[in-house]
Order: sequence, then structure tokens, then C-alpha cells
Amino acid sequence: MKYIIEHMEPELYEWCIIEYKHISEIVGKDNLIITNINEKDVGKLNGLGEIKTDSVNELSLGKACILDANADKELSNEDFEYLVFGGILGDYPPKKRTSKLNLKNAERRNLGKNQFPTDNAVYVAKQIIDGKKLGDLEFIDHIEIELNDGESVQLPFRYVVVNGKPLVSKELIEHLKKKDSF
Ligand SMILES: C[S@@+](CC[C@H](N)C(=O)[O-])C[C@H]1O[C@@H](n2cnc3c(N)ncnc32)[C@H](O)[C@@H]1O
Repeated sequence: MKYIIEHMEPELYEWCIIEYKHISEIVGKDNLIITNINEKDVGKLNGLGEIKTDSVNELSLGKACILDANADKELSNEDFEYLVFGGILGDYPPKKRTSKLNLKNAERRNLGKNQFPTDNAVYVAKQIIDGKKLGDLEFIDHIEIELNDGESVQLPFRYVVVNGKPLVSKELIEHLKKKDSF
């Protein structure tokens, strides 16, 4: 199983790089393909997986499934060769940019109707492909990350709970603490 992330933000923000690094740790660099990366940014993703400047929409792939909260069917332990995700930072309310993923002959599946950050969507999809049921997993629908000086940032998205804690990379927390923007 290969996991494809189609980068869909106008720039490769630091937040995106941190998220793609986390995804590479979750699925392993040999199983990750990141597409639609501007030539000038390819080097910033070195070592995370196969990095392509082409959009996934231009690739001819085998049996592929687009993960989309608006799909009619839920993902189950199916026999796909590729799972495709939008490399999109969460927006609230969701802008439905995932619908722009337009791969010929691909199926679409959801992980429930709530919006996960891409790294969490990848983690949950991998658990399901590895045999778990969505109902076996625990979720939290809104998290607050404490920054410095009593400030905090609200992330109104769905997170999977792993070992009692929402799945957020340490690097993202450090990034949010040192900056007040993306
Ligand atoms: C932060 S979400 C983007 C949602 C978004 N606001 C949009 O415009 O479509 C990033 C990616 O994670 C995956 N994803 C997030 N939540 C999902 C869900 N409930 N079911 C299936 N895929 C999901 C999708 O591939 C999506 O493109």
C-alpha cells in the first residue's frame, strides 16, 4: 500500500513540512509519495518519501482510493494499491478542496464526516487498512494547545487518541510555540 499526499496549499508552509514529516514517520518513507510540489521546494522534503512535481491527477495509477469526508462510503479493509489524501491545512468551516482531487477511476471513501488534519487522516486510514474498525478508535473533536504566557491555540478538528493523547507531532507544538502564524 502506498500513501499519496497531493500538496494543495498555495505554498509549502513550515506547518505542511512538519505534517508531511509526521506522515512519513507514520507510514514509512518507502510507502509515501508527495505530489504537486513546486520544483524549488523539492529539496525541503528530502528523505520523506518519493517527491513529485506532477499532480496526482496526471499520474496513471492502479487501484486508487481518494480519502474524502464527503464520500458516500466509509473506508474498510479493502484492497487498494494507493490511498490518496489532500495535503490541505484544516479550514473551518471546511472548504471541500478535497473534491478537486480528480483521479480517473479512483474510488472515494470517508473516515466519518468530521474533518481530520491530514496526518491524523493517514494514521486512521492505515489503522483501518491494517484491520481495525473506525469504531475501535477513540477521537477528540477539538483540541487546545497551550503556548507560552497563558496563550493557547484552538484546533477545531477531529484527532485520533493514541496512548491517551491526541495525535499531534511534538514538532508542531514547538512550531506553534515559537510562532504566531503558519
Ligand atoms: C484537513 S483535511 C481537508 C479538508 C478540507 N477542509 C477540504 O477542503 O477538503 C486534509 C485531508 O485529510 C483527509 N481527510 C480529513 N478528514 C477526513 C475524513 N473524515 N474522511 C476522509 N478523509 C479525510 C482528506 O484526504 C483531506 O483532503
